[in-house]
Amino acid sequence: MVSTQISNVNIELVYFLRANEQEMLDIWQEQIIVHKEEDSVELIRGNGQIMLQIVINSLMSKLSENELKGLAYKVAKERNDTNINIGEFVYNVNLGRSIIIKYVNQSGIEIEKLQPIIDLINQQFDLFCYYAVSKYTELKDKKIQEKNLFITRSHKNRLEILGQMSSSFVHEFRNPLTSIMGFISLLKKDHPSLPYLDIISSELEQLNFRITQFLHTSKIKQVTESNKEVISINLLLGEIIEFLYPSFTDGCIHINTDIDEDAMVYGDRDELKQVFLNILMNAIDAVNEEVGTRKINIEVKLDNDQVIIIISNNGQTIKKEDATIIFEPFFTTKKLGTGIGLFVCKNIIEKNNGTIQCISQDELTTFEIKLPSYQI
Ligand SMILES: Nc1ncnc2c1ncn2[C@@H]1O[C@H](COP(=O)(O)OP(=O)(O)OP(=O)(O)O)[C@@H](O)[C@H]1O
Ligand SMILES: [Mg+2]
Repeated sequence: MVSTQISNVNIELVYFLRANEQEMLDIWQEQIIVHKEEDSVELIRGNGQIMLQIVINSLMSKLSENELKGLAYKVAKERNDTNINIGEFVYNVNLGRSIIIKYVNQSGIEIEKLQPIIDLINQQFDLFCYYAVSKYTELKDKKIQEKNLFITRSHKNRLEILGQMSSSFVHEFRNPLTSIMGFISLLKKDHPSLPYLDIISSELEQLNFRITQFLHTSKIKQVTESNKEVISINLLLGEIIEFLYPSFTDGCIHINTDIDEDAMVYGDRDELKQVFLNILMNAIDAVNEEVGTRKINIEVKLDNDQVIIIISNNGQTIKKEDATIIFEPFFTTKKLGTGIGLFVCKNIIEKNNGTIQCISQDELTTFEIKLPSYQI
């Protein structure tokens, strides 16, 4: 509480303002911005009345910063709860300020004597705006943070649910699938001329791939050291290219390879297979959208202690705004995509102390994977 000598001018003005209190509030209420659905006019008028009271009190030397702060925080919270633009609030406050100052000027008191009083009123309003806007921003930021936290949590929950779902899904489907695949190869051996077996086999392989994809989403952190072995990237990619061969010929896709035969890594074979399959299947999808020559290039080179695998394709490039999120789970631009392919790739590569990045420009989309090379 700040205490100063109360002058007669102040007392006179206080009487004048009190006498005109309701009139000032009526004028203010008529002109303020009010949102009919969200706002309560009575509440806003009530706040205006408290503010006027604080200003009058300050003229009586009952200047209480805490009171002003309290009102500012209360209003900031109300504005924030009703989601009202802070600009509108500031407009209403300044409108109140102008009305009071207009009345002060009409009080009949000499202008020189009024100047310090007007300064005091302005100071009150400036302080009020400062506290209210600061609090409003603080509350708004908190709200945004909470929302972001909620989004992150539900995103994590979705991943966890997907993990649990895929775990049971994988168990339920994998065993019968493996046995069907086994019987198909027996059939092939016993009846080599039986038609359609190759088609059935390749469809089952695709199904197996999909199921394994889910397995990698759910058990991404559970693979142990015992699954690791020395892998020749050349042989692994050779196998994958053979597996995908029907897709290359179907789409008339030209595939160029330049692979260093000495490129070896130490890792989980199934996992790395999944990575290359995902990237190559994405490349096939991308070039299949094209009408011109469809090309996929695979280059593998050794650079000091790293194996660098570069897989590129021509075709429509990835939009700039999408480039940063393609590795996020569930991001897909495809009708039947799940958007977990690249997410799985990134997890596997990073778990193997490698990096994966994508550059998509000038009609070429390139995925570059770097893995520690296995040194004999
Ligand atoms: N080679 C590429 N060329 C153009 N866009 C690509 C390429 N690879 C990935 N993308 C973009 O990244 C998105 C995410 O790929 P990701 O493999 O994670 O999921 P998806 O292929 O859509 O679905 P799925 O889970 O079946 O793999 C794709 O939908 C596509 O928009
Ligand atoms: Mg994919």
